[in-house]
Amino acid sequence: MSEPRMTLHEKMLGHGADGEQASVILESLLMAQIALVLARLGVPDLIAAGPRPVAELAAEAGANADALGGLYEHYGKHPEEAMWFGRAMSRVTGTMVAELAASGFRPLASGRIVDLGGGRGTLLAYLLGADPGATGVVFDRAEALAEAPQVLAGAGLGGRAEFIPGDFLREVPPADLYVLSQVLHNWQDDQVRAVLGNCRKSGRPGNSIMVVELMLPDGPEPSLAHIMDLIMLTTLGGRERTRAQHEELMAEAGYRLVRDTPLARVLPWRILEFQHQPG
Ligand SMILES: C[S@@+](CC[C@H](N)C(=O)[O-])C[C@H]1O[C@@H](n2cnc3c(N)ncnc32)[C@H](O)[C@@H]1O
Repeated sequence: MSEPRMTLHEKMLGHGADGEQASVILESLLMAQIALVLARLGVPDLIAAGPRPVAELAAEAGANADALGGLYEHYGKHPEEAMWFGRAMSRVTGTMVAELAASGFRPLASGRIVDLGGGRGTLLAYLLGADPGATGVVFDRAEALAEAPQVLAGAGLGGRAEFIPGDFLREVPPADLYVLSQVLHNWQDDQVRAVLGNCRKSGRPGNSIMVVELMLPDGPEPSLAHIMDLIMLTTLGGRERTRAQHEELMAEAGYRLVRDTPLARVLPWRILEFQHQPG
C-alpha cells in the first residue's frame, strides 16, 4: 500500500507538530505563488513538449536564472530573526539526526570535525556523541552561533567543542572532516567552488568532506527536492543538485566520492562523503 500523501512541512515537522496548520497554509500559499509566477512567465507553454534546461527557459521567458536574495545579510542586521531561523533549521535537522541515530550512521572520517554553517550545532552534537575520540568546531556567521554553546553543553559535549565565527567564502579553519549540511544548496556553483577551495587549502592531509543535501533525481520524476530547488532559487539564488553535479564540483577541488548514504524516512536527503586525493 502506498504511503498517505504528506505535505513538505508535515515531512519536515512531523504529524501533529505545533503550528502544523499554519505550516500547511504557508505551503499552500507558496505553491499558489509559484504557480502564479510560472504561469505569468509562460513556463507551462515552454515545457509543453518536455523538460528543458533552466537557462534556456529563463532566456525565453525573460526571467533571471540567477536571482539573488541576501537573506543572511538580512539576518546579520536582525539577530533575533536569525535566532528563530536557527531554531527552525535545528528542528528540521533534529529529524535527520533521529534517523541517523536509528540507523547507527557514523562518518568514515574522524579527528577534528568542522561543521561549516553548522548553526546551533545540532548535527555536530550527534557526530561528537557518536565518536568519543573526535573534537568539533561549529563555524558560522556570528549571529547564527549565539545558541550553539548551550546546545553542545546541554549534550554534555561542551569540553570537546569550539565555536568560531567567520565567512566560509573567505576562509575555513583546519580540519580532518568538514561537514556541509544543507549549506551548498544556498549557493551558486562559483560560491560552492570558493568554499571547497578553502577546504582544500586549509584541510589537513587526506581531509574529508561530508555533504548532506536533498538530491535532485537524475530524470524528470517528481521529488520534494524540486520544491526545495525553487525555494532556494527564490530566497537565496541557490539551487539543489543531482549527485553527479555534486561530484563534478568536488572533483574540480580534488575530492572523490567514497560513500553515498540515502536517508528516506523524513526527506530524500543523501549523505555524500568525499575524500581529498593529493596530486
Ligand atoms: C540552511 S542553514 C543550515 C544549518 C545547519 N548546517 C543544519 O543543517 O541545520 C545554512 C547555514 O549557513 C550559514 N551561513 C550562511 N552564509 C555563511 C557564510 N558566508 N559563512 C559561514 N556560514 C554561513 C547560515 O548562518 C546558516 O546557519
